[in-house]
Amino acid sequence: MRLALLGCGTVGGEVVRLLHEQSADLAARIGAPLEIAGIAVRRIGRDRGDLPVDPALFTTDPLGLIKRDDVDVVVEVVGGIEPARTWLVEALRAGKSVVTANKALLAEDGVALHDAAAEGGGDLYYEASVAGAIPLLRPLRESLHGDRITRVTGIVNGTTNFILSAMDATGAGFAEALEEATELGYAEADPTADVEGFDAAAKAAILASLAFHTRVAAADVHREGITEVTAADVASAKAMGCTIKLLCIAARGADSAGRETVSVRVHPAMIPLTHPLASVGDAFNAVFVEAEAAGQLMFYGRGAGGAPTASAVLGDVVAVSRNRLAGVRAASESAYADLAVRPMGEALTRYHISLDVADRPGVLEAVAGVFARHDVSIATVRQGPAGGGPAGRGDDADLVIVTHVAPDAALTATVGELRGLDIVRSVASVLRVEGGL
Ligand code: NDP
Ligand code: HSE
Repeated sequence: MRLALLGCGTVGGEVVRLLHEQSADLAARIGAPLEIAGIAVRRIGRDRGDLPVDPALFTTDPLGLIKRDDVDVVVEVVGGIEPARTWLVEALRAGKSVVTANKALLAEDGVALHDAAAEGGGDLYYEASVAGAIPLLRPLRESLHGDRITRVTGIVNGTTNFILSAMDATGAGFAEALEEATELGYAEADPTADVEGFDAAAKAAILASLAFHTRVAAADVHREGITEVTAADVASAKAMGCTIKLLCIAARGADSAGRETVSVRVHPAMIPLTHPLASVGDAFNAVFVEAEAAGQLMFYGRGAGGAPTASAVLGDVVAVSRNRLAGVRAASESAYADLAVRPMGEALTRYHISLDVADRPGVLEAVAGVFARHDVSIATVRQGPAGGGPAGRGDDADLVIVTHVAPDAALTATVGELRGLDIVRSVASVLRVEGGL
């Protein structure tokens, strides 16, 4: 089996190292030796340390490498939409098998890749694109195919989980925790894709597509990042026995007309400390899958890093190589259900709302009236002296309200109306709540 490796950075370098270190085992598992036919990079003269590879294999001509007749499998670990899409479509149409870690491309235009794979007859595998080393996509696309998945809830971005875990542990604000993540090498120089939720949204689209047999693209995913999460939000969560996580949530459910749909969203949310995802700290990832027959399943591990991601890439390389040798291909894309993606306003969520209100008769009634007008049911109300100061008539009070489940649009409208009330001095924090309280 001859591989064209596109990219030799953090992940590609580790792919080369593992291929070298485990060549005998990999050959035994596949039934044929694995050889690197060439490695396409951007800068041919870049110092690549002690990488165990013949320098003559490097090229700056990815398309030329892909088109070679002696290439069976193309491994893409470059990233981005173009030129990666052109390369992979070319490879797949030519009948090569493709392994990629490129979540951005799969979420933006997975259709182009799946169509090209169907045309060429090769395999398209992408285990490393979501949650790094964690075997997750194969279980969704194979092991759980006899079941009906109802919900996938995950922490799929290591950088933001590191930041939120640091805020929870130390009481730091977002900026301070981001600085620490950057110093320790968790956050990239430009952390936008992570902290604004783009990375998690791409992964959410891939997970939802597999779980619900429906094409979901990044543009279908409601996305909010963690830049607005404050130390006060974290403290408020703690007071409720909760922690805050950036969650990706994909769930089946009926829309307002009763049709089965999916909702796919990424946003920070409070979860109780008793929830299995609450203890996922540092830069780890975990995904909680709920299926009708299997019940609850949890997948946990390293979601990023050169070696962990290369482990998933090589697992795919072994699978597609074995398929080629056997003259078979894996099941193609399964999108038969073709469910509509529900708008965020129709997603069923719960809110935790902290208000600074005037402490005088009738205030609670006025606040409760706003919830009632939007048909939002209140689950719990807690009142205390504002900012920990002395309570009493004439002073402000902190009012913390947790709702029952309601359409997100109704909750947003409730908060909007609360902001306009004279008796509400400020809306201190609004967070969605997941996993029961
Ligand atoms: P890096 O930036 O470390 O490496 C990118 C590689 O691609 C480099 O070798 C670079 O060449 C090469 N490259 C860039 N542009 C071109 C081009 N136009 N032509 C040929 N080669 C090019 O990226 P990572 O290894 O971190 O990520 C690779 C992929 O894996 C991405 O899709 C990413 O999302 C995904 N991924 C990464 C994870 C991680 O932890 N890093 C985890 C999970 C997925 P040169 O070496 O010359 O600069
Ligand atoms: N930036 C990503 C993260 C890398 O922080 O999880 C893995 O996709």
